[in-house]
Amino acid sequence: MIEGDFVEMNRTSVSNIIQKGGTILKSARSKEFRTPEGRQKAAENLKQQGIDGLIAIGGDGTLAGAAVFYDEHQIPLVGCPGTIDNDLFGTDETIGFDTALNTAIENIDKIRDTADAHDRLFLVEVMGRDAGFIALNSGIGGGAEMVLVPETLSDIKKVKSYIHSLMSEQHRSSIVVVAEGDELGGATRISEELRADEAFAEIDLRVCILGHTQRGGSPTARDRVLACRLGVSAVEALLDGHANVMVGLIDNRIRLTPSRNVYSRKKSINFELLGLTTLLS
Ligand code: F6P
Repeated sequence: MIEGDFVEMNRTSVSNIIQKGGTILKSARSKEFRTPEGRQKAAENLKQQGIDGLIAIGGDGTLAGAAVFYDEHQIPLVGCPGTIDNDLFGTDETIGFDTALNTAIENIDKIRDTADAHDRLFLVEVMGRDAGFIALNSGIGGGAEMVLVPETLSDIKKVKSYIHSLMSEQHRSSIVVVAEGDELGGATRISEELRADEAFAEIDLRVCILGHTQRGGSPTARDRVLACRLGVSAVEALLDGHANVMVGLIDNRIRLTPSRNVYSRKKSINFELLGLTTLLS
């Protein structure tokens, strides 16, 4: 939008892409769009092209930026929730979350083979800068012994003593899933704390950071269906005259949520699920 680089698309533009990860749009975070001057340029280019509606696909940054853009330039805009983090208010699930989650679980399963074979403790770091949805769900689905998420404050002493008791009393191997944004500092930082503690001297500890493996790959069926439903709903909402809303799926029904609620409210993880991890380990 800022560079005036427009490509007209039609139905064939989206043929044979349903099985692909990433984006054919090549759109990404933009520093310039954060400035009023950048947004002004974008608005002028849109007007010049006769574009009278926008669909913004992305996470909290994209949707917050889209809302500011609407406030400044009143170009009708519908948000579509696409982020692996699943941390958007106004939808039960975001596009990409299920695929990332399944990738994380697949990798945790593989890591468990080494953990079990060599009686090791693994700290597996999954994505989630500010939210623990991937960590919590992959931890439960992957049978992790402990899950650390940014939504709860963990005391490092208690974490150490719990992991130590797991390794010495019940298990000879354990997997701890850590969200990258955990306030204790991610898997590497926590591993340093453990290694510095004499009680862990005999424990064979490894760190595995799953990183961007979670942001790519062929989407799961669940994500494909969600993306199709939300994409069509976003277009319909725009044609129906809605502006400054986000489409979402709540209790399996399409809902529109005002943009200001999307970025001002926080979607909570399920704390009951968090309790399950310790119960099941
Ligand atoms: O916000 C989504 C997210 O996947 C985060 O979980 C992660 O921290 C970040 O994006 C990674 O961004 P980048 O690819 O720019 O490093």
